[in-house]
Amino acid sequence: MTDPCKPVGSLTTRVLAMNSDTNPAGDIFGGWVLSQMDIAAGICAGKRAQSRVVTVALDSMSFIRPVKVGDILGVYTEVVETGRTSMVINVEAWVRRDRIGNREKVTKGKFKFVALDENGKSKPLPDESELPSYVFDV
Ligand SMILES: CC(C)(COP(=O)(O)OP(=O)(O)OC[C@H]1O[C@@H](n2cnc3c(N)ncnc32)[C@H](O)[C@@H]1OP(=O)(O)O)[C@@H](O)C(=O)NCCC(=O)NCCS
Repeated sequence: MTDPCKPVGSLTTRVLAMNSDTNPAGDIFGGWVLSQMDIAAGICAGKRAQSRVVTVALDSMSFIRPVKVGDILGVYTEVVETGRTSMVINVEAWVRRDRIGNREKVTKGKFKFVALDENGKSKPLPDESELPSYVFDV
C-alpha cells in the first residue's frame, strides 16, 4: 500500500523551475516538465541497462497540478517492468513550492526505454544478478 503523501521511487533529479521555462500564462510549460521526466527516466533506465538507452514509448502521462516559477521539481523513478531489451519506468514529479513550501505531486507517467548496443540496435538487458551494487542504492 503506497502513501499518497510520499513519492514512489528513488529521487533521481532535482531542478529549480525558472522564468525561462514558462508558458504564455506564466506557469511552467508542460513540455519542460515532460523533458525533466524523460531525463530522469533515462538515468534510471541506463543504470538498469548498463548501456545507452532510448525512449520508445510514453504509455501514460498525467499533469495533476501546475508547476510555478521558483518551485523545486524533484523527479522520482523506479523500474516497474522489464522485457528482453525494454524497461518500463514509473516516473513521478513532485514540487517543493517556492523552494521551501509543501511537497505536492504534479505529474506521473510511465516511460518505456530500450537498451541499445554501440550500433544503435536493441540489445538484451543484463540479468539482475550481473548488476553492480550501486544500481540498488536508493
Ligand atoms: C528503440 C528502437 C531501437 C527499437 O527498434 P526495433 O527494431 O523496434 O527493436 P526491437 O524490435 O528489437 O524491439 C525492442 C523492444 O522495444 C519494444 N518496442 C519497440 N517499439 C515499441 C513501441 N512503439 N512501443 C512499445 N514498445 C516498443 C519491443 O517490444 C521490444 O521489447 P522487448 O525486447 O523487451 O520485448 C527503435 O524503435 C528506435 O530507434 N526508435 C526511436 C527512439 C528514439 O529516437 N527515441 C527518442 C525519441 S525523441
